[in-house]
Amino acid sequence: MSILIKNGRLITSSEDCIADVFIEGETISSVGKDLNVKADEVIDAAGKFVFPGGIDPHVHLDMPFMGTFSSDNYETGTAAALHGGTTMVIDFVLQTQGKSLYSALEEWQGRSDGNALSDYSFHMAVTDFNEDTKKEISSMIEKEGITSFKTFMAYKGALMIDDRMMIGLMNEVRDKGGIVTVHATHGDIIDFLIAKHRGEGKLSPLYHYLSQPEITESEASGRFADMAYHTGVPAYIVHMTCEGALNEIRRATERDQKVFVETCIQYLLLDASLYEKDFEGAKWVMSPPLREKKDQKSLWAGINQGLVQVVGTDHCPFEWKKKLMGEKDFSKIPNGHPAIEHRMELLFSEGVKKGKISLNKFVEVTSTNAAKIFGMFPRKGSLGIGSDADLIIFDPEKKHKLSVKTHHMNVDYSAYEGWEVTGKVETVLLRGKNAVDKGKLNIGKGYGKFIKRNKVSKII
Ligand code: URP
Ligand code: ZN
Ligand code: ZN
Repeated sequence: MSILIKNGRLITSSEDCIADVFIEGETISSVGKDLNVKADEVIDAAGKFVFPGGIDPHVHLDMPFMGTFSSDNYETGTAAALHGGTTMVIDFVLQTQGKSLYSALEEWQGRSDGNALSDYSFHMAVTDFNEDTKKEISSMIEKEGITSFKTFMAYKGALMIDDRMMIGLMNEVRDKGGIVTVHATHGDIIDFLIAKHRGEGKLSPLYHYLSQPEITESEASGRFADMAYHTGVPAYIVHMTCEGALNEIRRATERDQKVFVETCIQYLLLDASLYEKDFEGAKWVMSPPLREKKDQKSLWAGINQGLVQVVGTDHCPFEWKKKLMGEKDFSKIPNGHPAIEHRMELLFSEGVKKGKISLNKFVEVTSTNAAKIFGMFPRKGSLGIGSDADLIIFDPEKKHKLSVKTHHMNVDYSAYEGWEVTGKVETVLLRGKNAVDKGKLNIGKGYGKFIKRNKVSKII
């Protein structure tokens, strides 16, 4: 099967030109002006942008969490991702404390194998680093192609590791060629504040926000950066939300250290005033919580300064009845919100259209940087010859509204209900297959492949 995309405006992290793209099988075989080739299918992309397929490196599909499971499974979550132009996601395998990394991997494979529509990979979350799990790191990297190791500095008793374990893990991952990533918040301060607020009968969603002040994130981000500097391991902070944490990374940069930073679309667009809507605020109960306008300003600036390399989602949806588990106690509201489908269109509309970021930056933070940092470039995140033919044909002028009535995520509310967006994903190709065309899904579950990733290199 071959496809010729004609006359599109091709945007990569460094290029912007009108050209044709010729795809044979699963890969891009040539790119150039007025390509004289015969194709099985020709798509006229005049007036449209052609972007590399989006990569969302922070999603939680079918994840057991806080007494329930996130409501998008591999089929519904990756289908929604494709509708929004994301052709690859990286999910998190969570080790159960006291058990092996491999037993967790098998559990996640049981839910993902044969079910995904988009391509996918896993980060391995190490929640208990000991002599046994240490031995598994090398085989995760060499055999499974899982080269990133997630840590939590919060959620004590379930996911959190202490600094001693962190240092041990960092040393091992550095030696074996991987990267350590982190949920960087100060778990003990947060637990103290949660208990204090509950003890005072302060139980609404607003107290979720007030239990995780900015200092909990800036302190942990700085501590993590220091431990990474000490050990020399490549490091990445997930879902950064605030000015204070970003300033810690600025400090690390001054000593010539590179700590990669991901923020998520919600932290750029939404703020903590949503927690004042009584229980409706539960829609945005996530960790870390939404912050303030000054933090949004810092994050946008951080993107343009090259301090923030990735915009993900931390997609972790829960149906409203699950959110209601915390109606009388904010600490029981499952943490997370739905966004996998909207990341690219929202960032284009709010970022590119409103002049906050360039088109090249848009591609960098939605696709190319994640591919580079997580060992998939140039197979993914590129429109180069030989890359997987994962690409989006995007109408930059089309206006539409986001709503629970039209989204494809398996969740019964929208965190962006009524949001007006300019720019729409029109066609999505995944490894040469026309996966979504004008809202119609053309592939079924099982088309999505697990992508083994390479060791981390100094490419970015
Ligand atoms: O609220 C969130 N972020 N839920 C998912 C788990 C995590 O911390 O990323
Ligand atoms: Zn987290
Ligand atoms: Zn997460």
